[in-house]
Amino acid sequence: MNDTSLKTEILSKLQCEADNLTHEHMKDWFEEEQDRAEKFKIEACGISLDYSKNIVHSDTVKLLIELAELSGLQQRRDEMFKGVKINNTEERAVLHTALRDALHAPLILDNTDIKFEISSTLSRLKKYVEGVHSGVINGMAGERFTDVVSLGIGGSYLGPKIMTEALKPYQVENMKLHFIANVDGSHIHDVLKKLNPSTTLFIVSSKSFSTQETLQNTLTAKEWFLGSGASQNDIANHFVAVSSNIAAAQNFGIDKDNIFPMWDWVGGRYSLWSALGLPIALAIGYQHFEELLDGAFEMDKHFKDAPLNQNLPVILGLLGVWYRNFFDAQSHAILPYYHYLRGLPAYIQQLDMESNGKSCDRSGKKVDYETGPIIWGSEGTNGQHSFHQHIHQSNTLIPVDFILPIKAPSSDTVHHTMLAANCFGQSQALMQGYTYEQCLSDLQDLPEEKRKLLAAHKTMPGNKPSNTLLLQELTPKILGSLIAMYEHKVFVQGIIWDVNSFDQWGVELGKKLGDNVLEILNGARSFEGVDSSTASLIRQFLG
Ligand code: F6P
Repeated sequence: MNDTSLKTEILSKLQCEADNLTHEHMKDWFEEEQDRAEKFKIEACGISLDYSKNIVHSDTVKLLIELAELSGLQQRRDEMFKGVKINNTEERAVLHTALRDALHAPLILDNTDIKFEISSTLSRLKKYVEGVHSGVINGMAGERFTDVVSLGIGGSYLGPKIMTEALKPYQVENMKLHFIANVDGSHIHDVLKKLNPSTTLFIVSSKSFSTQETLQNTLTAKEWFLGSGASQNDIANHFVAVSSNIAAAQNFGIDKDNIFPMWDWVGGRYSLWSALGLPIALAIGYQHFEELLDGAFEMDKHFKDAPLNQNLPVILGLLGVWYRNFFDAQSHAILPYYHYLRGLPAYIQQLDMESNGKSCDRSGKKVDYETGPIIWGSEGTNGQHSFHQHIHQSNTLIPVDFILPIKAPSSDTVHHTMLAANCFGQSQALMQGYTYEQCLSDLQDLPEEKRKLLAAHKTMPGNKPSNTLLLQELTPKILGSLIAMYEHKVFVQGIIWDVNSFDQWGVELGKKLGDNVLEILNGARSFEGVDSSTASLIRQFLG
């Protein structure tokens, strides 16, 4: 956070507010303020946020908004949309928003209208997807593709896989998607042995086209393909690539006409809107992919235009800062109460933790405050039978996002009503808790000593914050808005913490040392200078 005096003043006011609020309990506020639920609700893009079960008063929110304004949020937000190179360590613009910008105005970056590049790539994507679905584009024996194997990791995997999973009700017939990320050969071998090479299409998704796992998986896929009787000439029909490194993709043997470009002003974890979304479009059809983009565009407009106190990403971002920096909440749980959204926590985990898990500010100065939380979670109601005990009764404060679609055509009324009841019951229990006195009165029949013992163990503190995000329905459009909302939430927090949310230098060392170990394992490097632990592990592995 920039050290301006005004900002310092707001920060101390917020600390005072947090100290004062520790003596209050949310459940009392619901008794005192009949309109609390309405006061703390924001609706936009088919999403309704109830943030009334948070440790905030209206004045708290006002102070948080002031913090955002003093951090220059509006100016930096406008800079991002305009293509200012806000990724200052890589000197790149951050323009995943341009990928879904339906307005026809040009956007000039380095003397190029990137909107033209985007629209021509999307036209190529549309043509390819429709060609595959119609059978005009087909395999070496002239048969339609029935299986698509997407090879990619990180943002080149999570976006395509999780959006495809989330939109299962929209998936086209006779097209099975397989997503392979890890370099663990078990996965790719399990998948390949079930496939028919004549009807399998491989998509190599790698922005850098230098990620070890993806290159190895692609090599293995190629060997399998050629080993099954296909010829080198058949590669062109069965392998396409999405990358910003066209030359590397070509050197790898991907036909130039089958390479869809992406650009350095799109971060991997923000790239599903680009041609990296090809597997999604093949799974659900190009029209539904366009609806996904459109939903994100609607959220972009909301983020740009809505007043900060009526702005979904801004309020969610500020609440995250509130708990991270004023309540020392180390983590934040994403609990989608919808089976098709079971992958969402993993998606937001990369989006958030790879963006804001930093320790120096944009100028390179070490920060003395916490930034990005640990993001985790899993589908409800499963978590209720696993980690909810910890959230309800431990001394750890874990803010929660509950996410539930109101309509679920693929479910049925009985099941979906039960799912909703569990979702709402959980946030109510986290807020209200259950006092020692209430427990005691429930245990009248027990002997005094046993009664007090059990009451102590059954007491639920409550006052545990949660947001509930109700989706009208999980359509491609509303899913696009939901994902864009979380992207902008991460942006808001990065501005307040003054970190560069768009680089990821922290992943480089592990990759480099892993390459060194691989050379030792392959006998191409000595053990010289290797610590005893790593040396011992290598020796044990070699046997
Ligand atoms: O984890 C580092 C990272 O660069 C991610 O940001 C990215 O999504 C992933 O690796 C894959 O990178 P690429 O698309 O270049 O293979």
